Amino acid sequence: MSAPPSYYKYHVFFCLNKRDNGEACCADHNAEGAFARCKSQVKAAGLNGPGKVRVNRAGCMDRCAAGPVAVVYPGETWYTYVDDKDIDEIVESHLKNGKVVERLLTPPHLGR
Ligand code: FES
Repeated sequence: MSAPPSYYKYHVFFCLNKRDNGEACCADHNAEGAFARCKSQVKAAGLNGPGKVRVNRAGCMDRCAAGPVAVVYPGETWYTYVDDKDIDEIVESHLKNGKVVERLLTPPHLGR
């Protein structure tokens, strides 16, 4: 039996976790701002919706040492970003044109 068709072409999750105990967390690196930027850029490009792209909030994904992180499915592509320019590149390259942004890939060994 083959898998059913995907509801979204790309599903993106941003870790927005905040910790108040001084430990590393994505919220300390403007994760909310990056999430909002990604959503607005996806919408502006007309990429949002069924069969296209969905951008969602997520809690800690246990890769805090590499934070801030976002992950794109299918393919489980983990990104570590710094600023809006990085987010815009992920939207344009990966979500619009299907090309992974190699320079922003999260180092594979970094976990929590
Ligand atoms: S706080 Fe973002 S992955 Fe853990």
